[in-house]
Amino acid sequence: MTEIMHPPEPFKIKMTEPIWLLPRKQRYEKLKEAHYNLFFLRSRDVFIDLLTDSGTGAMSQDQWAAMLLGDEAYAGARSWEEFYSVANDLTGCEHIFPVHQGRAAERIIFSVVDTDGKIFISNGHFDTTRANIESRGGIAIDLPDENAKSPFKGNLDIARAEELIKQKRDRIGGLILTLTNNTFGGVPVSLENIRQTYELAKKHDLPLYMDIARIAENVYFIWKYELNEEGDDLWEIGKEICRYADVLMMSAKKDGLVNMGGMLCVRDDTLAEQIKIDLILGEGFPTYGGLAGRDLSALAVGLKEAFQLPYLEYRIGQVRYLWHRLKEIEIPVLKPHGGHAVYVDAAKFYPDIPPEKYPGQVLACMLYLEGGIRTVEIGSVMFGKEENGKFIPAPKELVRLAIPRRIYTQSHMDHVIRVFEQVKNKESFCKGFRITKAMPYLRHFTAHFEPVN
Ligand SMILES: Cc1ncc(COP(=O)(O)O)c(C=O)c1O
Repeated sequence: MTEIMHPPEPFKIKMTEPIWLLPRKQRYEKLKEAHYNLFFLRSRDVFIDLLTDSGTGAMSQDQWAAMLLGDEAYAGARSWEEFYSVANDLTGCEHIFPVHQGRAAERIIFSVVDTDGKIFISNGHFDTTRANIESRGGIAIDLPDENAKSPFKGNLDIARAEELIKQKRDRIGGLILTLTNNTFGGVPVSLENIRQTYELAKKHDLPLYMDIARIAENVYFIWKYELNEEGDDLWEIGKEICRYADVLMMSAKKDGLVNMGGMLCVRDDTLAEQIKIDLILGEGFPTYGGLAGRDLSALAVGLKEAFQLPYLEYRIGQVRYLWHRLKEIEIPVLKPHGGHAVYVDAAKFYPDIPPEKYPGQVLACMLYLEGGIRTVEIGSVMFGKEENGKFIPAPKELVRLAIPRRIYTQSHMDHVIRVFEQVKNKESFCKGFRITKAMPYLRHFTAHFEPVN
């Protein structure tokens, strides 16, 4: 068996932010004060924060330097030119619109194209994409390819997609590829599948949308496992992928390596004019969108850095390391691992806790209690429902460990692994939870819990 090594971090640390582990007794108090909902914890009470990889990464010295040189002119700023040049090179789109974050791109595009009664077919809609389609009368259908060859479990099921198109051609609004497929574990889509999706879209004269929030991570998997490490210019692979899309949406808080930002890119002139109106009404003048000049400058640098091979070897290598080490100590991790997170099957971890008592929430609380680690439940707290007094569980009871970019080192990952070992060998402090307070939508953000024993 080859030993899985943590890749050396391809950076030196120039600035630090202190983190500390509160004593266990205090962590227990904090959990109680937070009503056992980790969203209510203060960041300062968390030691290792794996709540999300979105907007939580560290910028490089080149990005900070670019920020200081940011041009804050209202229109046609130098920062805009820097950003446009990089985004235009990557996407090949003439029309590039900066926005404050990914969901703004989704909101704008699905306000200007026809969504009413239209079906959008995707390998996996991210939840804000789905919400932006469905809130405008559209129908978002996920067709992931369950038989795809590992690691490309993010692929679209081309055969099922074509069948649906043939049945409902007049109602199909378009195809959407999410790279990587966050909804199904951050797993990548193969270049072959991207090309096949493009062919399918062209054959039926449908637009192809791409959500490229994690395109660089996706490109790394293609380079390593599909192209067998041929060449070393990953930016070129990114460019090829983007060429297949008619519309590109990006939350730059992921592979833009910035803390806030996004973009919407289109090829069609008429569509661009419609977007411009909406953008000016809601985000800002088209050369800054919802962003400051300095943000655009940092994004221009971050986008390029995200495709650098040493960075991606470290990034995906860190996820792989955590995943393998957890597997070695028999933690039930979802297979294969994706590009930004490790998912643990809490139903297998706590087989005696039924879904209606939220095993994922118990595991997430135990990880905080034993090691100050903040994760997120992706199970029946997030997706479970009550219908006519009957509990409908989520398809899976998961806990996600999302890894922020360029933030944590191997010793932090080793802490997470040690804590898992501890949690595995210890009885949980409760036998499940009861929800005592919840909003009708997105209840996981604000729900209150009470332990049941
Ligand atoms: C695949 C994907 N698309 C879109 C979004 C929405 O982006 P934002 O949070 O910047 O609005 C996210 C956020 O996590 C995402 O993962």
